[in-house]
Amino acid sequence: MPAYKRYKNSLRNDGVVPQTLWTHAFAGHTDGSRKEFREILHDIPSASDFATPKPSLLIQRILQISTDKDSLILDSFAGSGTTAHAVLKQNAEDGGNRRFILVEMDEHIAQNVTAERVRRVAQGYTNAKGDQVAGLGGGFQYCRLSTEPLFAPDGQIRGDVSFAQLAEFVWFAETGVGFTGTADSPLLGTHEGRAIYLLYNGILKDLAPQSGNVLTATVFNRLPVFSGPKVIYAAANRMGARAAREGITFQQIPYALEVQP
Ligand SMILES: C[S@@+](CC[C@H](N)C(=O)[O-])C[C@H]1O[C@@H](n2cnc3c(N)ncnc32)[C@H](O)[C@@H]1O
Repeated sequence: MPAYKRYKNSLRNDGVVPQTLWTHAFAGHTDGSRKEFREILHDIPSASDFATPKPSLLIQRILQISTDKDSLILDSFAGSGTTAHAVLKQNAEDGGNRRFILVEMDEHIAQNVTAERVRRVAQGYTNAKGDQVAGLGGGFQYCRLSTEPLFAPDGQIRGDVSFAQLAEFVWFAETGVGFTGTADSPLLGTHEGRAIYLLYNGILKDLAPQSGNVLTATVFNRLPVFSGPKVIYAAANRMGARAAREGITFQQIPYALEVQP
């Protein structure tokens, strides 16, 4: 009978330490995980393409060993979404606040399988028998990568990036949520009491300098008015002391977008 040593400083959370042998009872098995997965996505035909989704209990065991309650878990081959399911289960069980990032390159899988499974287990769903299964809580935001990168290798914005493309990026960087505006004005919208503006790509048409990409007093006077605090993304700030008086927080692009050259 092989023995293993448990060192106190290797115990985490509920005290699970790595073992060399994980039984089906301890970490689940493929038959069960296939059933679990197909029960959740019983009405999604492509769910049957996944012959061997991993047991959520297996990933939970890994989370118990390797994460804290506030860890961020990355799965860059998300597939059936088992990792997020396990994260939500583990959070529900121990009151944790773990977050996850899933990456899936097949858009059909990402939308219809990965995101749909995670949405259902988080919010609750009706199974194939018509029974209601309670949600585990939690949620996620669905993001799509652009076809081309916005930034050149030197960290500058690529010349062919449109106002609408950069607006989406700026909005997400500033608010943490997806952009739902129309991107036809330098005022992108308001979020939690502040207005977010973007000066880029001649959105103010021919106003010099640099087609209105620099925040000057003249440019500012042309912007749609907002009386509260304002965050303005632009190439440079030539407003001087007036910027603070007007309640402006200036963010220089591209540097404020945390792009590392
Ligand atoms: C074997 S599945 C993942 C299985 C998953 N961990 C589970 O338990 O079901 C691998 C997934 O990764 C995706 N994939 C493969 N290469 C990728 C890449 N370079 N970036 C993102 N996703 C990728 C595939 O489309 C496939 O859905």
